[in-house]
Amino acid sequence: MVGKPKVFVTRVIPEAGLALIREACEADVWSGELPPPEAVLRAKVADCDGLVSLLTDRIDAALLDAAPRLKVVSNFAVGFNNIDVAAATARGICVGNTPGVLTDATADMAFCLLIAAARRVVEGHLHVQAGRWKTWEPLGHLGQDLVGRTLGIVGMGRIGLAMARRCRGGWGMRVLYHDRIRNEQAERELEAQLVDLDTLLREADFVSLHADLNEQTRGIINAAALRKMKPTAILINTARGPLVDQKALTEALQTGIIFAAGLDVTDPEPPDPDDPLLRLPNVVIAPHIASATVRTRNAMAEICARNLLAGLRGEPLPAWVNPEVAGRRR
Ligand code: DGY
Repeated sequence: MVGKPKVFVTRVIPEAGLALIREACEADVWSGELPPPEAVLRAKVADCDGLVSLLTDRIDAALLDAAPRLKVVSNFAVGFNNIDVAAATARGICVGNTPGVLTDATADMAFCLLIAAARRVVEGHLHVQAGRWKTWEPLGHLGQDLVGRTLGIVGMGRIGLAMARRCRGGWGMRVLYHDRIRNEQAERELEAQLVDLDTLLREADFVSLHADLNEQTRGIINAAALRKMKPTAILINTARGPLVDQKALTEALQTGIIFAAGLDVTDPEPPDPDDPLLRLPNVVIAPHIASATVRTRNAMAEICARNLLAGLRGEPLPAWVNPEVAGRRR
């Protein structure tokens, strides 16, 4: 390669990563508040060797075909459902992500949403803010206790385990989990029990979603699943919005099929401002901010940059989604 490799970065990411990228590459950084439109992204990647993408950028076969020189896509996220990994692999393109560094921040947010939904914190805040607080009420604002309850983790990976540790260690919860793969560490450390999804939905007081989004998990929490949950149950989603059928969730919250929900992700993102879900008192919604701490985002930026640079240099990526591409890389 003559000169520095050309890369496109689809949004301003923390300097901890951007500085590394700028030093080694000719970097075009999209400074817009919103993601680059599809046509712009396609034009930008046409002569690029590397791409830093966000979960809001769709990296599909058509986009990859528009980038004949592309060697690596480095996603600034642990989730990579925005990327057609099979299409990248078929074209000899490496894909990287940012696992590990956002585990605690994301588990903290899951727990924060759980406590907020269980104890009706946001509802109470709005009540006070609206000047409706008249007196101490023996029967007002009653929520759910956390101690000694049953937690159901759907997807016992790094983040699911971190959430389960918080709930088991701090609140003595019994832990059930549902996953394709057995997690022996969770079983040893937390006495977690692997169960089928129906058992988890029936027995858990709190159901927390930590699964990848793929064709098997899309809509895993649909109307039928919600009906299996307890009327006192709380659903937490810090993974991906489309794991949940949002219309069914809205109905379940309106009709008391479940008690409350805490969501850091929605479908779509952002939700339609007229979506009735946004008006419900028993839902707490955050704008996909589970990894949004200074230290975590810096660490994500650094891994993201290191993945990009390794991909450009023909080295193994530190966090490599498709290592099977080795041997036939572009
Ligand atoms: C991810 O990394 O996948 C989160 O959704 C954003 O940090």
